[in-house]
Amino acid sequence: METPSPSERPGTQRYRVLAVEPDERPRTRITLELAGIVPAPLTSVEEVTREVVPGEPTVVVFGPSLAGSDGFAAVQRIARSFPEVGVVLLADELTLDLLQEALRAGVRDAVTVDAGERQIRQAVARVGDTMAGVVNRAAASEPARLGKVFVAFSTKGGVGKSVIATNLSVLLATKHPGRVALVDADLQFGDDAVLLGVPPQHTSADAAAVVETMDTQLMDSYLATHDASTLRVLCAPVEPAAGERITAEEMIGMVRMLRTMFDFVVVDMPPHFDDVVLALLEEADEVLLVASLDIPSIKNLKVGIQTLDLLSVAGDKLHHVMNRANARVHLDISDVERALGVSAEFRIPSDIAIPQAVNRGIPVVLDKPRAPAALALRALADRYGSTEPSSETAEVETSSTEPRKRGWRR
Ligand SMILES: Nc1ncnc2c1ncn2[C@@H]1O[C@H](COP(=O)(O)OP(=O)(O)O)[C@@H](O)[C@H]1O
Ligand SMILES: [Mg+2]
Repeated sequence: METPSPSERPGTQRYRVLAVEPDERPRTRITLELAGIVPAPLTSVEEVTREVVPGEPTVVVFGPSLAGSDGFAAVQRIARSFPEVGVVLLADELTLDLLQEALRAGVRDAVTVDAGERQIRQAVARVGDTMAGVVNRAAASEPARLGKVFVAFSTKGGVGKSVIATNLSVLLATKHPGRVALVDADLQFGDDAVLLGVPPQHTSADAAAVVETMDTQLMDSYLATHDASTLRVLCAPVEPAAGERITAEEMIGMVRMLRTMFDFVVVDMPPHFDDVVLALLEEADEVLLVASLDIPSIKNLKVGIQTLDLLSVAGDKLHHVMNRANARVHLDISDVERALGVSAEFRIPSDIAIPQAVNRGIPVVLDKPRAPAALALRALADRYGSTEPSSETAEVETSSTEPRKRGWRR
């Protein structure tokens, strides 16, 4: 038997619970079902809006007669006006269509009336905990403090962008629990969910579909959680076709919202230039330009640098990460650096621990924290995780043993 979560125990609730059911018959029924969870249901949505105290986390259980367009319109109004209120829908029957409509309106959880007291109680507790978290985060974050956006970019696939993005974000999340989000912006072939071993229950395609009515609570409900690190993840669409439909505006809208919710937003990029990529490069505070030590990658790196130059993505914002820096490919990294006129700020060695970790679905920094590649990734994360997220000014003095100066040396 499971032990109840703190909020299931009476007297320790961090949120209020209300219920509403305008029709008399279902009201009588849910009054019985909800006894011990909620005080007697209110009889109108207007009463609910009168009862709600702004800033106080609240769960409102909507009765079955509200499982239709009028009820959903009311949910939408409440969700927009009161970010601290989460709605749980009690429906006679839950079809996929109804569920989708409900979630779109902003319902946070739905249960059937006869699911039993325990399930209803759990849904209420889950939503209550989330709402308490929303209020806490809102209180903790000063007005309009925006998180820092990192992108891992290259014009070539297979160079290690996803490995770097996932490990960097996991390390940042370990250091700053609950304050880091990862966006898998490889909308066609994103595999961050696989690299992290998190099931992508929702994806950016779902979030993009409701971007117009998006608020932080709704966004929160689309994020998967990497339990080992607390990292939140906006997963890439499972179907490549769904990814193609996401526009640059939608993607930027989502990243901007995440910036208001998290101190660090790491974006894993696809291996090409398109509208979405250009917009994200512009939005980014730090661009990690990733290359691996092989001829095709170096050639692409050169093209990438020139293109970024044209886009005026350069200077302090641009950081060069050389992956597989020790690969036995008869290429000398200093020759390459000289030829390109740039120097790698970070070098990550080729390491068998990486593919092993990838295959296990565990980021190498957690799987084999002492492996050479994990240590190099940690150095990268330490470089960024120690500074205050939104202050661009705090320039960390790097010692002479540190991997070169910040930015590009040209
Ligand atoms: N430093 C490394 N050492 C060994 N293998 C690596 C290293 N970096 C990446 N890999 C391997 O290369 C593959 C491609 O990396 P990935 O991060 O998915 O590239 P990208 O996102 O740029 O397409 C991964 O499956 C991983 O196993
Ligand atoms: Mg990738």
